Amino acid sequence: MNTTPEPVVDMPDVPVIELPLPPPGTMGPPEEYRRLRQECPLARVRLPFGATAWYATRYEDVKELIADARLIRPSITDWPPRPGHVPGDEPGLVTMMELEGPRHAALRRALSEPFSVRSVRSRLPRIRRSADRLLDPFVGSDQPGDLVVRFLEPFPVMVMCDLVGIPYEDSDYFLPRADAALGAILTLEEGREATSQLREYITSLLDRKRREPGDDMLTRLVDECERGALDHESAVSFGLSMLVAGYRTSTMFLADAVLTLLALPGAYARLRDQRDLMPGAVEELLRYVPVLNGVVVLQAVEDIELHDRTIRADDAVLPVLAAANRDEHVFTDADRLDLCRADNPHLTFGRGAHNCIGSHLARAQMAVCLEALFDRLPNLRLAEDHHPIWEDESPSKSPLTLPVRW
Ligand code: HEM
Repeated sequence: MNTTPEPVVDMPDVPVIELPLPPPGTMGPPEEYRRLRQECPLARVRLPFGATAWYATRYEDVKELIADARLIRPSITDWPPRPGHVPGDEPGLVTMMELEGPRHAALRRALSEPFSVRSVRSRLPRIRRSADRLLDPFVGSDQPGDLVVRFLEPFPVMVMCDLVGIPYEDSDYFLPRADAALGAILTLEEGREATSQLREYITSLLDRKRREPGDDMLTRLVDECERGALDHESAVSFGLSMLVAGYRTSTMFLADAVLTLLALPGAYARLRDQRDLMPGAVEELLRYVPVLNGVVVLQAVEDIELHDRTIRADDAVLPVLAAANRDEHVFTDADRLDLCRADNPHLTFGRGAHNCIGSHLARAQMAVCLEALFDRLPNLRLAEDHHPIWEDESPSKSPLTLPVRW
């Protein structure tokens, strides 16, 4: 794979635009989506670190590209390209997304039951207990309080730990290392160190499950390895996927969804008082909340023709799920949150072989999160005198703090 930084203008006939970002102080979506869908559905964008990628914004294109077998998921240690980094020169953070073929299929098979609708439904009371465990101390605390830091951030971590079999008490250890491994905050050297620490952590956790089995996914994977249906490396990859991807997207969706409901007059009270709207409302929030602004990165393994342009082998492609979800050719009144929307084929969980295996869990988390807030904080509202804090450089945004009163 070619990971040397690309020149700014790499294809003389195709103009390069800056990566569209949500307006400062908002979750977005970027204002350019509508124009790009209409005028330039396959654009060339420059990413903040200098590399360029194809950027697809129309529903039909995104739907095809995300499930196209000619596009693979590059390892997050190999992409984005970084100066001085040679692919394969470090232990590598291989997660479930980079596995392909029979190894990927075996892992999906081993996980299909515990991630199924039936299994997630049976865990609803435990998920609710996690919500209450966090909200109990919050309800009686000083106002305004920060709903992100006290609830919306730890809640998905707690649910994921319980299901997967990772001790929640260890989150102080693995959360900063997961950030570092993703290259979010530290240098390459520290990222490398964090990656090998996470691998060691998951490997020792799998050993512990062998000695002390639990009712969790890691124990299940250990059993599958012992009967020869799965290889040990795939089990490690799954554990790493959970540490770097099993909660962060949920946290961002929850924070943006709650902020949306509180900011739109009457929306929070309406759903609180009409709980039968919940399943459709969760789907609509998943469609409307624009977290997936080009954060799914694909890489072509062969040339692909689209809109009279050639995506060359090795090129990076960003199918912009959040832009597809606002495509006016598919969704009537696409920029409006309609809690009663009937036909809602959003692409928030992707499609094809790598679609989100945690989608039922994510839906359950969102429904339980809202139910718990309606029950425990029925008069929840934004604190007018305190504003959320945003990190504006990122394409995917949720408030880092959400000051509320209740
Ligand atoms: C609202 C929350 C979530 C959203 C929007 C979301 C979205 C996605 C998307 C779009 C993909 C596909 C990426 C691709 O095609 O390369 C994906 C994959 C994945 N997601 Fe989620 N996700 C969420 C929550 C979760 C949760 C809670 C879990 C597990 C605890 C999870 C586990 C995974 C895994 C393991 C994959 C990789 C599947 C594979 O490669 O076969 N996700 N997710």
